[in-house]
Order: sequence, then structure tokens, then C-alpha cells
Amino acid sequence: MPSLQRLLLHLVFLLATVSAAPSQYCLFGLPRDEIDFCMAVSLYHNHSTSAHDVYLSLAVRRSATQSNGTSLGWTAIGTGPKMAGSLMFVLYGDPEASEAKPTLSVRTVKAGHSRPAQVTQQDTGKQLDVRILETTWKKAEDGLYVATASIVCYACSEWMGTEISPESVSQPWIWAWNKQQDMKAFAPDQQLEAHSMVDGYGYFYVDMKAATSHHSDGFPTFNVTGEDSNIGTSDRPIKEAKTGLWQKLLSRPLAHLHGFFMMTAFLLLFPVGAVAIRSGSEKSFKYHWVIQASAMVSALCGAIVAIVMSDKVFGSPHQIAGVVIVSLLLVQAVLGWRHHVDFIRIFRRTWISYAHISLGFVILVSGWANVIGGLVLYGFSKFGIAMLALFILLEAAGVGAWSFLARRRSMSRGTIHKETPESSAAYFALEDIPESDEEDDAAEERGLMQKRND
Ligand SMILES: *[C@@H]1O[C@H](CO)[C@@H](O)[C@H](O)[C@H]1NC(C)=O
Ligand SMILES: *[C@@H]1O[C@H](CO)[C@@H](O)[C@H](O)[C@H]1NC(C)=O
Ligand SMILES: *[C@@H]1O[C@H](CO)[C@@H](O)[C@H](O)[C@H]1NC(C)=O
Repeated sequence: MPSLQRLLLHLVFLLATVSAAPSQYCLFGLPRDEIDFCMAVSLYHNHSTSAHDVYLSLAVRRSATQSNGTSLGWTAIGTGPKMAGSLMFVLYGDPEASEAKPTLSVRTVKAGHSRPAQVTQQDTGKQLDVRILETTWKKAEDGLYVATASIVCYACSEWMGTEISPESVSQPWIWAWNKQQDMKAFAPDQQLEAHSMVDGYGYFYVDMKAATSHHSDGFPTFNVTGEDSNIGTSDRPIKEAKTGLWQKLLSRPLAHLHGFFMMTAFLLLFPVGAVAIRSGSEKSFKYHWVIQASAMVSALCGAIVAIVMSDKVFGSPHQIAGVVIVSLLLVQAVLGWRHHVDFIRIFRRTWISYAHISLGFVILVSGWANVIGGLVLYGFSKFGIAMLALFILLEAAGVGAWSFLARRRSMSRGTIHKETPESSAAYFALEDIPESDEEDDAAEERGLMQKRND
């Protein structure tokens, strides 16, 4: 047993450590009397907003002597292929001014090639929230100064300008620098003069997908080792490497395992089990409980995987609903068992039977809704989700029609018992199906008892 546990732990650890590496882009301009800068970015799929948070580190290395003053110039990077609609981060300051930290200003251009203005609440919308966590100056070797900034942009994938796509392997970014403008005052809303049109701006491309993770790793750190310090980035558009299905599955193994268990339970087994009890077969009761028990095992496995993969168990509505549904499943199993025991004994339905039927309906429908919620959280495509919703509708119609027909069948045989309006209100609250072997069991048992009495 301990060795099995160890093996399981090992496996879970192995699966959980498949994680993303930040993407990094560096440009070395010092040899050309410009500046060096590096940006590193990682994305975190935030389960409470279902959006992606962007963690950005920016560093600028410059000489204090090369320009006419230490307060000159600014360096900027921005998302997207052009200034209009870009979310821009502009860094400036004076390393020799006492206790002044560099200023990081977050800007955008509404249209055209005009001056970038500070982003406002109106630009960001309700969800997106950019925070500058830290900016510092550091004196480096050879009279160089390094300015760094750490920025987190919550729900950055909701940016309303040009798309910031966590799915993109080649997200365009722009950069620009200026070394003339005196930025003294260093106000965040200081007007910017243009960058030089020669060598003063450019483009780079970032593999956002590779930098996306489902665990919050905080700010990316720089790893500058040589002349080419680009990691997951390029000066040219990046071609998507073909990945096999197996690789894709292994890229997020726990999420896929969780989805597999839950979809098997809620899209396949539970509906089949609901149909089985009305199958008209002599063994319908046996089919019903065996299928529902397997569905339950599958759902419980899915829940265990979910707990292993989650930072927080109650982090999102999907997770909260999941905990409630799994708890209801346990109640449902107890109700089903009580119903069966009572039915055999007193040969008619009790409130427990109706509770079991209604709760089954509630669990199935909320399970379906939560499967869709899970796929939204996963980042499944809108088209895929629409197709699945259609499949679920067809499935619901199928199970409903089956139950309806089963009831008609039993009514036409004239064997229907007392019917209450509540019991026919819902598809699943249909009347006793005489041919189900719940009654066969009961009949058998009565027969036995009679024999014993004889
Ligand atoms: C320094 O300032 C002078 C006069 O303002 C200008 O001509 C020169 O190009 C500047 N040098 C640099 C490196 O910016
Ligand atoms: C997820 O987003 C919310 C809202 O922006 C934020 O408060 C929270 O800290 C984020 N979660 C993590 C783990 O960063
Ligand atoms: C830094 O980057 C190099 C080359 O890209 C890589 O081999 C090395 O493992 C990285 N180091 C760290 C600490 O990430």
C-alpha cells in the first residue's frame, strides 16, 4: 500500500510539474549608443475571473554619461501590431536624482498615430485592472544604470483594444525608444514626444501560449545569458510548431483527466442509467444501479483530480457548483438505496422515491450546466461549447422522450397507479414502471413470503 501511494504521488507530482516558462525578449542597443531593454511575460489563467492575468517584468539598462543628462529619454513596449489599440508600458526617470524611482506609465492610443495617453477606467472596462507593483533603479557595472518595473494586468485578455491572446504563439508587440526628450517631473501623464523614425521603434513576437500557466508563478525573472537572450520570442512572426494529440493532452494532463471523468459521468453514464430504469427490461433495476454506481465512481475520480489540480477548492463558481453536485450525488445514492429497500418492503413509493427521482433530475441538469461552465473555464472555443450545448439539448430531449414513452407504454397497459400532479410535472417524476424489476423483486419476495407462510 505505501508503495502504491508513493507511485500515485509520484505520478501526480510528475503531471503537476508540467508548467509554463515565461517568454522573454531583449534588445541590445547600447553598442549603438541607445539602450538595452528586456521584457519577460507570463500569463496566468485566473480561475475566479476565467480571464488571463498578464505578469510583466521590464528592465532598461542605460548609460548615465552617453546622453546630455540623466533625465533624458523614455523606453516603451506595447501589445499588438500598432500603436492604435495597443496597451503600452512606458518607462522613464533619472537614476541620479536622489530617491526618485523610475516612472512606469500605462498608455494607449485610441486611433491613428497620435500621442499615447494614460489609460483610463473607460479604456480598461470593468474587469481589467493594471497595477504597477514595483519600480527600481540599480547601479550596474561600467557606469550603467538599470531600471526595472513589475506590472500585473488582471484580466488582461479582456483588453478592448487590439487583441491580447493567450492562445497565440505569435502575439505581435511593439517597442520604441527616445533619448532626447527631457522627462524631468516624471509625471505619469507627461506628454511624450515622438520616437525617432530611424531605428527608434520596431516589432517583436511573443509565444503567449507557451508562457501561459494555470498556477500563479508571480513575476517572471530575467535570464540573460548571451547575445541572443530571446526565449519564446522573435523579431519575426513565429510559426506554430505542430503538436500531436498526445502532446496536447499531456500539456494539461490534470484538466483533461478531470474533463474525461466528468464528461463520462454526466454526458454518458448518468443519462444512460436514467434511461435504464425505464428500459422495460426485467433487469432494469440492476442496470440502473450498476450504471449509476459506475457514473458515481467516475464523478468522484473527477472530483479528486479537481482537488489535486486546484490551488483553491472554492476558487470559482464552477468549483463551488462541483462541490455541491458531488455532495448531492452522495445524498442521491443513499436515497436510491432507501427507496429500493422500502419499495421491496411496502411495495409502493414513498416521499423518498420522489425525492430520489427529483434529485436525479436536478443533478443531471446542474451537472450538464457545470460541464459547460468547466469548458468555459478551460478556455474551450465558443464553437465547441455551442456544439456541446446542442448535444446536451438533444440528449435531454432523448431522455425526456424516452421517459414519456415509457410512461405511455405503462399507461396503455392500464397498470398505472395513483398519479399525483406533482409527479408528472417533471420528466423524471413519472409513475411506477410496473415492468421494472423493482416490482419484480418485490413480487418475488412476496411470493417467497407466501410460500413460507403456507
Ligand atoms: C546634446 O545636446 C546638444 C545640444 O542640445 C545636441 O546637439 C546633441 O546632439 C546632444 N547629444 C546627445 C547625445 O543627445
Ligand atoms: C484573480 O483575479 C482577481 C480579480 O482581478 C484577483 O483579485 C486575484 O488576485 C487573482 N487571483 C490570483 C491567484 O492572482
Ligand atoms: C536560461 O536560459 C538558457 C537558454 O535559454 C537555459 O538553458 C537555462 O536553463 C535558463 N536558466 C534558467 C535559470 O531559467
